[in-house]
Amino acid sequence: MTRTFSGGPTLHEVLEVCDVARRAPSAGFSQGCHFLVLDGPDKETFFEVSGAGTWFARRSPGVRDCTQIVLVLADPDAYTDRYSEPDKIDRGLSTRETWVCPYWLTDAAMAAQNLLLLCEDRRWGALLFGLHGDPRVTLDRFGVPDAVHCVGAVAIGHRSPGDRPSGSSTVRSRRGANEVVHVGRWVSPSGGPAGFATDDPEV
Ligand SMILES: Cc1cc2nc3c(=O)[nH]c(=O)nc-3n(C[C@H](O)[C@H](O)[C@H](O)COP(=O)(O)O)c2cc1C
Repeated sequence: MTRTFSGGPTLHEVLEVCDVARRAPSAGFSQGCHFLVLDGPDKETFFEVSGAGTWFARRSPGVRDCTQIVLVLADPDAYTDRYSEPDKIDRGLSTRETWVCPYWLTDAAMAAQNLLLLCEDRRWGALLFGLHGDPRVTLDRFGVPDAVHCVGAVAIGHRSPGDRPSGSSTVRSRRGANEVVHVGRWVSPSGGPAGFATDDPEV
């Protein structure tokens, strides 16, 4: 994650990246993920109304220098409508409450990861962060329909030469693969994790 930006791509370049990022998988090819790109004055409005401007001013002031914010949005209705179609209706997923795993969030998160990877690929910087407080205050300001959720905001810009890692990963170590990669079952019969060990902390 980048938290100090210095300049950034054009709006057109960001729109091109969004066009690629949106090609994430989606359940039933429902395609209920949307990007709302905020550039120039819209970006400034976002920082004001969301409270993110005040929060980052204290914690990571360089975030305000990003050139665009992309809100990654998930529309549950696209999923319940899709799963009401003849080839899906027998799954019993035509109302939101029936979804054990809300795939509109799954799919939007995958699209957000695409966006982050594409920014890396272009040697830009990006930061994914959650909306603070009541997200509806921000979403209403930009005309986002009531049913639509925001899974995260992605700040985009060029990484400042002075940018240094500053988030939680600087104070917490990465968990070992043997803690989170399980083989066969969650816990081995001996009581330890049923995983595998590696000496490389980055694996
Ligand atoms: C759902 C989500 C919400 C996050 N919210 C914030 C945030 O509000 N502020 C922030 O500075 N970083 C936020 N992050 C970034 C994480 O702190 C960061 O990805 C993690 O510490 C790993 O750091 P690295 O990606 O730089 O390795 C968020 C990440 C995710 C996935």
